[in-house]
Amino acid sequence: MKFFIDTADIDEIKEAMSWGCLAGVTTNPSLYARTGGKLADFEGHMLKIAEICEGLPVSAESQSKTTEGMVEDGRRLSALAPNIVVKLPICAESLAATHTLAAEGVRINMTLVFSPTQALLAANAGARYISPFVGRFDDIAEDGVQQLANVVACVQNYDWSGKNVDDEVEIITASVRTPNHVTQAALLGADIATVPFGALKKCLKHPLTDQGMASFDADWAKVVAAQ
Ligand code: G3P
Repeated sequence: MKFFIDTADIDEIKEAMSWGCLAGVTTNPSLYARTGGKLADFEGHMLKIAEICEGLPVSAESQSKTTEGMVEDGRRLSALAPNIVVKLPICAESLAATHTLAAEGVRINMTLVFSPTQALLAANAGARYISPFVGRFDDIAEDGVQQLANVVACVQNYDWSGKNVDDEVEIITASVRTPNHVTQAALLGADIATVPFGALKKCLKHPLTDQGMASFDADWAKVVAAQ
């Protein structure tokens, strides 16, 4: 299971990078808006993230609604840095844009995926990454993990060689809210979980770890005191 961080916040990305276990970054329009970023600064911000995460995939999302606009955005965003991945929401227009961009070697992350059929269409169009959302099913009292299981099973049934520049499709578990979402994704064999910083910190913590460290500290203090 590879960990991506799901944020456009530079400080969160730098902190997660310092842990040495980050494999990529995903952003989206809401996450960029949350940084207070201005429209004029969007591409510069994406480039800054790509430079901080040199060699790691960084997803930057197009907000265009037409195939032509998505293709134009995809060419421009992917030209910012070699590790920029272009994020597009699954729809007819983005399938067509993905088909064109994938043929040009542009890596696409197809997002807002909620079903196996959407995922299979995206993979056939040339998506390099597919982002099935989990948490938003929980928001409507449906089983997001079961949907993820179906997507993973369907996509991993097939060889996607020749469909995109890397000859593979990786599944990015998205809309992750809890460590259990990460655990379930790993048990299912999803390739990646993209995790908000708050949830990432929860993945790191456990009360028994804290208790154990406190106990070791107390006993070690006795060793030091007995010198
Ligand atoms: O990467 C997609 C993710 O940011 C969406 O998460 O919590 O808004 O469903 P959420």
